[in-house]
Amino acid sequence: MRILGIESSCDDTSAAVVQDGRRVLSCVVATQDAFHEKYGGVVPEIASRRHIEVIDQVMAEALEQAGVGADGLDGVAATQGPGLIGSLLVGLNYAKAFAFGRGLPFVGVNHVEAHLFAARLDERAPEPPFVGLVVSGGHTNLYHVSDPREVRLLGKTVDDAAGECLDKSAKLLGLGFPGGAALDRLAEEGDASAVPLPRPMIASGDHAFSFSGLKTAVKSTWTTPARRSKEKSWPISPPPFVAAVADVLAAKLFHAAEQTGARRIVIAGGVAASRRLRERVSREAEKRGMDLFIPDLTFCTDNAAMIAAAGTAALRAGERSDWSLDAFASLGGRGRGAS
Ligand code: KG4
Ligand code: ZN
Repeated sequence: MRILGIESSCDDTSAAVVQDGRRVLSCVVATQDAFHEKYGGVVPEIASRRHIEVIDQVMAEALEQAGVGADGLDGVAATQGPGLIGSLLVGLNYAKAFAFGRGLPFVGVNHVEAHLFAARLDERAPEPPFVGLVVSGGHTNLYHVSDPREVRLLGKTVDDAAGECLDKSAKLLGLGFPGGAALDRLAEEGDASAVPLPRPMIASGDHAFSFSGLKTAVKSTWTTPARRSKEKSWPISPPPFVAAVADVLAAKLFHAAEQTGARRIVIAGGVAASRRLRERVSREAEKRGMDLFIPDLTFCTDNAAMIAAAGTAALRAGERSDWSLDAFASLGGRGRGAS
């Protein structure tokens, strides 16, 4: 079963062809970082215009690299939401038109849940039941997956996403945008306990997260003149800061595993590319004798291969989306797993 996936929820335009939900025949990603960098964040209007400009080319490359024409495809999947509405509409409508014109089955996919499917694009794929943490620039969601079609949201952030906290802090510290990866690199060396930082909600006993306080800690320390003048280097150095984020994510993940009795865990989304987080979680998983699955680095950040993989599960289960399917910007009760 060969499925074409299309992703355009934020600032990456991507198309991919995936066979049997596992084997990536092609995955083309056109990033827009250079267009948004000078604004220090993604500008929605620029993002949607850029998607329109490049989507034809991205699609053509994905089909060419996969060595298939439209007649070699068994279906089309596209991100329905959540994301930037103007961006979503470009990929979703392109996918609908492509599928309709060629008589192919079509399904809309939840972007956040699809991040979990990135872990299946590997020789070693997690079999349900498992607990999955999707940690990205826009989301920090904890799921229990009992079947590829049974994805239950356990909890999420009450304010900022972990990636948003990393990006905004990195920006304050002059590391550019998106700065999560730069911050993570700087956190590789140094003393993680040099500055005591809070671990927000780490012992709250539920599955919710909060990261805005950590971002504020960076901001207030950085902008307090008395503190700045005393410090020769960084007022809050990256190792303690990134360790605080990783500690909270790991604690919540293992707490959810304990509560649900899951022996397999998945971390996915852009922040799962963090070396610090990977190390922290794999150490703990090993100690507890649990199986950890993390997507390949290229499939941690936004890509259409994960959309094709999630679409494969839906199409296999007989799900089809109507041609009137609309995009949705936030979960707000829409899409599976929403709460
Ligand atoms: O999944 P993604 O590509 O987009 C969203 O759906 O949001 O995630 C992007 C996020 C950004 O916050 C970025 O800073 C972060 O992933 N990120 C990282 C690393 N690479 C990307 N964070 C920490 N360490 C990294 N190596
Ligand atoms: Zn994402």
